[in-house]
Amino acid sequence: MKGLLLVLLCLLHQGLMYDHPDEVVWQNRNADIPYIANPDGTPYVISHRGACGQMPDHSSAAYATAYYDGTHFDEPDLQVTKDGVLFIMHNTCMKETTNIEKLHQFDDRRTDVKFSTNETELHCEDDYLVNDFTWQELIDAGLKVRNRFKTRSHYYDDLYPPMRLEDAIELMLDLNEKAPVKDRKFKTGLYIETKAVRFYKDERNVDIAQILYDTLEKYDLHTVEKATEKLPIFIESFEQDSLLYFKSKTDLPTVQLMTDSFEYDLDWISSYSNGVGPKHTFMFNYDGEEFNLDKPSRFIQQCHALDMRVHPWVFQDDILVYSEDAIDEAKIWETKGVDGYFTEFPHSTLNTLRYSEANRRKRLQSE
Ligand SMILES: *[C@@H]1O[C@H](CO)[C@@H](O)[C@H](O)[C@H]1NC(C)=O
Repeated sequence: MKGLLLVLLCLLHQGLMYDHPDEVVWQNRNADIPYIANPDGTPYVISHRGACGQMPDHSSAAYATAYYDGTHFDEPDLQVTKDGVLFIMHNTCMKETTNIEKLHQFDDRRTDVKFSTNETELHCEDDYLVNDFTWQELIDAGLKVRNRFKTRSHYYDDLYPPMRLEDAIELMLDLNEKAPVKDRKFKTGLYIETKAVRFYKDERNVDIAQILYDTLEKYDLHTVEKATEKLPIFIESFEQDSLLYFKSKTDLPTVQLMTDSFEYDLDWISSYSNGVGPKHTFMFNYDGEEFNLDKPSRFIQQCHALDMRVHPWVFQDDILVYSEDAIDEAKIWETKGVDGYFTEFPHSTLNTLRYSEANRRKRLQSE
């Protein structure tokens, strides 16, 4: 009797975990992208701005920390300088995450810029726009990066310069070669976001997606076949333009990011996107669904039916939403059936998944 109950419970749990209404479509669509999902069946851990829970956002230290923690991907956000260099930073302006206010030679370069992306209304108020500077003048002046949260450690602030995309690629290639992660089928990759695409195109006449493609080509990482060998790559954006551009150029996987301030047509998105990166609320409240911790997520089921992977954002151990405990909260996402976590604390997310019973079973099955 007890055994039977256990079997029933397991079946119930498995059913909640991965409910792909149409296995056949799922198998075919992403079949040519070996690293589309973690081969051991557990969700991917994608380090948002690197391990920025501990280190300054997008510093080489944050990327290396996440790497040594065992992350599957580091996640650069791309801006462009005046001279066309891909500059890794979340914001289009520099005040929040750099020491630029200390560099008084730039005092008269403050500006006000207002524009909208499909992520937010951006208002750089009395701030320093990345695109008004050349890469070299920022580096020569001693620009350094900082952690964005007052509540996190600032011990490592103002030590590391920002990175170009090229620096991040070279760092990851070096780590993958010199410090390979044991027992992993794929190398650690980069999950790259194009930011403020329309703003750069309309206001500054520069196509961030095109520069990104050319940079990947320079490092011979511009197709799935090449990326699989050296450095797995995903391309993500809130704006569809750069995803459509990538789909027209290459077979690298694309991910449409989603906030809760728009209506989305999942059928249309699945025509150009291998996955979606929704705000975490989509797992519970999409399309009028009532918040429920225990029921399967209709949003995730619909995405899976369209053969799209689901990587919600962003998991923060110090800003919990559904629980008072980071392990319990990570398990809630897992139970909903996510295929990856954007997280700022990769060590803890990885440990939760490593020791979770459901994932242990999946790993055993895949061996
Ligand atoms: C922004 O999102 C909406 C809703 O999906 C879409 O209709 C629109 O084309 C998007 N704009 C860009 C620039 O991607």
